[in-house]
Amino acid sequence: MGRKSCHKKYSVFLKEVMGSSNDVQALILGILIGFSSFIQCTSTLWDTNALLLVNASQGSTKKMPENLFGVSFEEINNAGAGGLWAELVSNRGFEAGGLHTPSMIEPWSIIGDYSLVRVVTDFSSCFKRNPVALRMEVLCDSNACPAGGVGVYNPGYWGMNIEQGKTYKLVLYIRSLNSINVTVSLTNSTGGQTLATANIIATDVSNWTKVEIALEAKATNYNSRLELKTNRKGIIWFDQVSLMPLDTYKGHGFRNDLFKMVADLKPGFIRFPGGSYAEGKSLINAYWWKDTMGPWEERPGHMNDVWAYWTDDGLGYFEFLQLAEDLDASPIWVFNSGFSQEQAVNPSNIKPLVQDALDGIEFARGDPNSTWGSLRADMGHPEPFNLNHVAIGNQDCWRGDYHANYLKFYAAIKKAYPDINVISNCDGSNTKLDHPAELYDYHLYVNAKTMFSMAHKFDLTSRIGPKAFESEYAVTWDDGRLGNLLAALAEAGFLMGIEKNCDVVDMASNAPLFLNANTPSYKGFRPDAIVFDSYQTYGTPSYWMQQFFSMSNGATLLDSTLQTSSSDSLMASAIWFQNPADQQNYLRVKVVNYGSNIVNLKITFEGLDPGLIDYSKSSKTVLSSTNVKDENSFQNPTKVSPVKSLLKKSKNDIGVTLSPNSLSSFDLLILSQNIAEINTKNDMSYSSSI
Ligand code: AHR
Repeated sequence: MGRKSCHKKYSVFLKEVMGSSNDVQALILGILIGFSSFIQCTSTLWDTNALLLVNASQGSTKKMPENLFGVSFEEINNAGAGGLWAELVSNRGFEAGGLHTPSMIEPWSIIGDYSLVRVVTDFSSCFKRNPVALRMEVLCDSNACPAGGVGVYNPGYWGMNIEQGKTYKLVLYIRSLNSINVTVSLTNSTGGQTLATANIIATDVSNWTKVEIALEAKATNYNSRLELKTNRKGIIWFDQVSLMPLDTYKGHGFRNDLFKMVADLKPGFIRFPGGSYAEGKSLINAYWWKDTMGPWEERPGHMNDVWAYWTDDGLGYFEFLQLAEDLDASPIWVFNSGFSQEQAVNPSNIKPLVQDALDGIEFARGDPNSTWGSLRADMGHPEPFNLNHVAIGNQDCWRGDYHANYLKFYAAIKKAYPDINVISNCDGSNTKLDHPAELYDYHLYVNAKTMFSMAHKFDLTSRIGPKAFESEYAVTWDDGRLGNLLAALAEAGFLMGIEKNCDVVDMASNAPLFLNANTPSYKGFRPDAIVFDSYQTYGTPSYWMQQFFSMSNGATLLDSTLQTSSSDSLMASAIWFQNPADQQNYLRVKVVNYGSNIVNLKITFEGLDPGLIDYSKSSKTVLSSTNVKDENSFQNPTKVSPVKSLLKKSKNDIGVTLSPNSLSSFDLLILSQNIAEINTKNDMSYSSSI
């Protein structure tokens, strides 16, 4: 018997039984499911049947946390430097080679050869906190120099994206004992094509002089470079050379396309500056917020030694807080708890770090007249930022002194800011924490099968005590190194488990968020949600999967129960939400079919007047693909992406069909303003189905 005829037979049978009362339905369904299991054991040609009971009755609902789903930003994979932060010059202050001279200047290179131009770093900078500058000695003069002159160029982070008609702000610091005539240009990767150019002509730059130039591009090239050239003999020093597009999100310095990718997830929170990045491999290279403060040219920058690249900290603590505000997301600041991956500060020496954390909180939310609040005001943001969560360290619970350090941070923070939610690194999902905390951090990197099964991770967690912050989860290992459909489906199942346990899980985010595709694989961390290069970007299937959950923040969870023989491959959840786009109320049922069978699903609603559902404006959205290992790419960025269609409902249509390996969302427009209204008059008296 072929699958088609089996399907038909089942449908007719289901249709007959679904008109009767719930108990009888359940009984018959149970028999059906048992029969189906038997058939499945003997043949793979049979579809699976399942029933989802969604209860919209009062008393069966849960208010979901406002910030349940968010994003976890880490300076990893050039997510910020060479990514979201729109600075185009890499190693703009020549500090990346370290605080010694001579040091390497990469990725800067010379234009010309060693007989014509020599570069070396020295300590002549006018900036105390970043003392290294570039000394360029030109040995040729006028006609003896090659046409156009000699000098240095910077290719940015694997090529700069320069777009026709757009304006780029070049700022640099220059010094020479002679008069200068320096040509600054944006060119293609070989220097053969000029996209924009200007000249710096000055007779006296014997003191460091700041130069600002607006360069308008007359052509587009996404693999461009910045050139600084001259054909005048002599020595010129350069320092803090920056090139930023004027067109950034609200002029705040965030690359527009990447900002939009994050904003489209509608994150309730943004965790920053990262996990391991906050720790550093050595303490000197940990993330110290004060070093990222003040005017960009005065920031020392630091070696991101965990992920092996230099960051000039243009994207500093202030910018992270600004980013959170621009995303309308709660900032979650992870600060160093006295541990880098290789070093530790013991509890008797932790006081300065505790003070540093307190200062950081004061910077974010203190009065504009306070010591650190006034710096925030000076940086252009007199209003406090909405910082309500801080995490004491990252993955440090196993460290011998973590508890002792933690308690010192906790006591000082709670004393000064009693309302701040403090996040511990210790897992409280199985056993009660032995220290005070509002939340505990939980990370999960597993294969797809385990991830799907982890939907039940928090089912047995104590309902009393600190809540979970699932700040890093992702399918890794062999199930798709670059992120595929299988990973996304497993993660969807896990997130549905989180929705159902939203009384004990307060926040959750996938990690890492970003990958610059040019980051060498030995340095980076894969897979990631958003992949980009200098000019293009795409979301992995996990990225699109997260969009299915973007309306869950602050929504109402409805009780839902699946009856199926395939509980190891089916998960579902149901929410009620108001869509800010049209101010209408929707009932969203999400179902993930992690298995390779077609599933015929009947969805039944309790306590919902069927007359309130407007099917003409209801929709279904499906994330699937022909092969469960399918990935997205720059060539095919939406190969695995959601497909939305109207939910066709006719009188005879009693169920929905779930494709193998798919995530589906059914959004039913409910003609009522308030969930309480849908069943007040007739609570529990309706049973409707789609
Ligand atoms: O998300 C990548 C890394 O994984 C984080 O830096 C760390 O917290 C975790 O181990």
